[in-house]
Amino acid sequence: MSLAPTAPRKAAAGALALSERQRGLLKRFLREWIFPRWRQLIIALILTGLLAAVTGAYPMIIKASFDMLMKDQTGTLHYVLAAIVGATMLRSLLLYAQTVEINRIVMRLTTDMQRVGFAHLMTSDFARLSRETPGRLVSKLTNDIGFVQTAVQAALNTAVRDTLLIVALVASMIYLDWVMSLIVLCVYPLAALPVASLSKKLRRVAKQTQDELGGMTSLLTEKLSGARLIKSFRLEDYASDRLNKSFEHVYKLRMKAVMNRARIDPVLEALGGIAIAGVIALAYWRIASGISTVGDFMGFVTALLMASQPIRALGSLSGRINEGLAAVESFYELVDEKPRVVDKPGAKPLAVNNATIRFEHVGFAYDGSGVQAISNFSLVVPGGRTVALVGRSGAGKSTVLNLVPRLFDVEEGRITIDGQDIRDVTLASLRDAISIVSQDVTLFDDTIGANIALGRLGAPQASIVAAAQAAAAHEFILAQPQGYATEIGDRGLRLSGGQRQRLALARAILKDAPILLLDEATSALDTESERLVQEALARFTKNRTTLVIAHRLSTVQNADLICVMDEGTIVETGTHLELLAADSHYARLVRSQALVAAPAPQVM
Ligand SMILES: Nc1ncnc2c1ncn2[C@@H]1O[C@H](COP(=O)(O)OP(=O)(O)O)[C@@H](O)[C@H]1O
Ligand SMILES: [Mg+2]
Repeated sequence: MSLAPTAPRKAAAGALALSERQRGLLKRFLREWIFPRWRQLIIALILTGLLAAVTGAYPMIIKASFDMLMKDQTGTLHYVLAAIVGATMLRSLLLYAQTVEINRIVMRLTTDMQRVGFAHLMTSDFARLSRETPGRLVSKLTNDIGFVQTAVQAALNTAVRDTLLIVALVASMIYLDWVMSLIVLCVYPLAALPVASLSKKLRRVAKQTQDELGGMTSLLTEKLSGARLIKSFRLEDYASDRLNKSFEHVYKLRMKAVMNRARIDPVLEALGGIAIAGVIALAYWRIASGISTVGDFMGFVTALLMASQPIRALGSLSGRINEGLAAVESFYELVDEKPRVVDKPGAKPLAVNNATIRFEHVGFAYDGSGVQAISNFSLVVPGGRTVALVGRSGAGKSTVLNLVPRLFDVEEGRITIDGQDIRDVTLASLRDAISIVSQDVTLFDDTIGANIALGRLGAPQASIVAAAQAAAAHEFILAQPQGYATEIGDRGLRLSGGQRQRLALARAILKDAPILLLDEATSALDTESERLVQEALARFTKNRTTLVIAHRLSTVQNADLICVMDEGTIVETGTHLELLAADSHYARLVRSQALVAAPAPQVM
């Protein structure tokens, strides 16, 4: 073993088998997440140390009590008994306190990681959030952080207790026979080699396991939330097959990890056996030549045997730490990704005058799609007016709408509101000025009233009711068992599509923003509620800048301007009558019933 000062550190890292990158990761994790809790850490570590000390002293008490018992049977018995009871009670108390303190740190740590991870996701770009399935993101915040939890728990428990034991035992070994200790200390680090190679395998498996767990969670959420599809298309077996494959895959990966971890112990055990044999051979020679005594030798071997358990614990700790680090890595990948759609430095709030939206030669392509979704799109939506976007599906209508609240940023050209480039104003003010109602309505697992109130958090009940009335939703809400206080089942399954759309409209009406974006917001309504909602919308969109995507002639006809889109750009603009007279794209859409006069039958 080299005597260079870095040698012990290298040996320690070698035993953990960490790559350069992982060492960086570990350092960062310690600096950002572990060291700031130093007060609690010190308490927990002191408790762990005391626990180790009492545990170590316990055999001594037993030994001392036996010695006393042998000498004087009557006088000291009660001392002996008291010492035994006292030591065990002290140990129990310490064990309790240590367990609680260690877990307090670990649980707080993982809770904080979840909080930070989730908060980061909430401020991430829409593009980032829609890049991965919700299931995968859920897995990162639950499964992966679970691995971190196990690793930190193991590390805190082992780090102090076992290290202390090893230090104490090595000290007594040196005291008993320093020559033999030196030999053992030079040979033992060799054990790090097989452990290192196993740890490397473990690291690969850990990463794969966490990926597969993400996939499994994703499949689970997807299949469990697609109950209607699964039942009506009788996809039960298909879904079970898909999941079983994933369950099996996770099982195999987990078993692989278990096998690798389980191999570390026997390797260390076998190496320990070789060490003991070597020591005995050496001792035989040393005792025979009169250098050391049988007593020294017995003490030495006892210490060596006692040290093997904590050394093994340190060995298998590396496996846990590897798994934890793989999870820490995925956590950092998550929180390190900076959003691209952000406020410019010194961005000012949007000053709304009459809310004229102007698209100037706008171009946009989705990340990695390679297709230009929008190109050279120029349009003015005059303040207070209603402009309808029509066109075949896939023409880019929804994309245009998404660009206005900056769910995505334009790549070419610009969008202005009352002359201000939307990238120059604060996101908060921009999004406050816009209400969006889209085709797929999101309802949270809460009451009907609370779901409408998402439009303006903290809105008084009277405003909620007024908004519901304006969206023709009041009647059906009152018909629910608890009216506005009725809990919507998870994902609002107990409401019809039309009812859900009316709740979404009520939410937008409550928000009362100067700009309204409607993406086929009335597609699921039946004739009767369509009429009611149209009347409500006519009132609500008056003097409000409205950009509406519609399939209904009735909606489109009332628009101040109709803009026909195809392949990401505008092919025709005009009023209903103008466009019919032109007898081109729009007229074809109407004739082909792509724009329907009567609402389609209820979907849901
Ligand atoms: N999140 C997305 N990622 C990649 N491509 C997308 C995404 N959303 C839409 N697209 C593509 O962009 C084009 C326009 O889509 P969209 O704006 O939804 O059309 P429309 O609303 O007119 O039906 C289509 O070719 C579609 O496949
Ligand atoms: Mg669309």
